[in-house]
Amino acid sequence: MEFSKIGVVGCGQMGSGIAEVAAKAGLDVVSREVSDDLLAKGKAKIEKSLGRAVDKGKLSAEDRDAILGRIKFTTSLDDMGDRDLVVEAVTEDLQVKLKIFLELDKACKPETVLASNTSSLSITELAAGTSRPDKFIGLHFFNPVPVMKLVEVVKTVASSEEVTDSAKAFAEKCGKVPVLAKDGGGFIVNRLLVPYLFDAILVYQNGLATREDIDNGMKFGCGHPMGPLELNDFIGLDTMYYIGLILFEEFKEPRFAPPPLLKRMVQAGYLGRKSGRGFYDYSK
Ligand code: 3HC
Repeated sequence: MEFSKIGVVGCGQMGSGIAEVAAKAGLDVVSREVSDDLLAKGKAKIEKSLGRAVDKGKLSAEDRDAILGRIKFTTSLDDMGDRDLVVEAVTEDLQVKLKIFLELDKACKPETVLASNTSSLSITELAAGTSRPDKFIGLHFFNPVPVMKLVEVVKTVASSEEVTDSAKAFAEKCGKVPVLAKDGGGFIVNRLLVPYLFDAILVYQNGLATREDIDNGMKFGCGHPMGPLELNDFIGLDTMYYIGLILFEEFKEPRFAPPPLLKRMVQAGYLGRKSGRGFYDYSK
């Protein structure tokens, strides 16, 4: 089973990146958003990302145009009908995702494999709403998608071996390193990363050190590209909060509970980089 026609539902931070790397790999891509406005914003993200590579002399203008030419932008889910693989990358909300998969299940040909880029929801639960749990898998990319080399391929008890192998081959074709995980809360990376990022917030909340010193500690002491408070801001504080709620619900362990300061910041509209304010000020 080889995936050559790819659909990506959602053209935000993650979806635009997935569409970009798939088109870069020479695949035929359909990218879908709910409105023309969001579609234009998603397309601009892809253009900006490819533009960086052109500016640095790592991609020619012709190749950039060819990559963009391989992506069809649409607001209709019906355009996913002929796809071999459709990756959903919409907001981290179970009900929204379940509804999309119900619609995709109807719109797509029977052979289409459906995948979710969810970071923390159960792949098994998302698959159960469709008529094809054997052709359903998790494909968890990392932000920024064009840069981060990892894709978690998440297999449920129902995912077929053929679909799992094809999903790994797709990730490799997109230039990524696939790792295989079972459908357990947070898979591999977020199960380890989220308690660490929450601990950094607790350390800051408790006044142990300044935000800069906490971040510098991990950057210069452990070689991380970003400190934990910077990384919380980068992922998005609302996203971190919702991932924490989902993982706490699954494990009932305090290390997954969103810290009170994180909750207050989200309530105040401090969502990190995307809102211009989080642990740091990005308004300038
Ligand atoms: N899109 C495309 N390319 C980008 C990019 C973006 N948004 N951001 C950076 N780049 C590229 C640059 O063009 C540059 O490319 P080059 O090496 O070919 O010249 C390269 O990445 C490095 O960028 P910069 O020099 O501008 O900046 P930095 O060296 O500071 O790197 C970073 C930026 C790659 C974001 C780095 O800080 C980093 O790796 N941070 C950690 C990110 C991380 O941990 N992500 C995972 C988050 S967890 C997650 O996604 C899971 C979810 O479920 C929560």
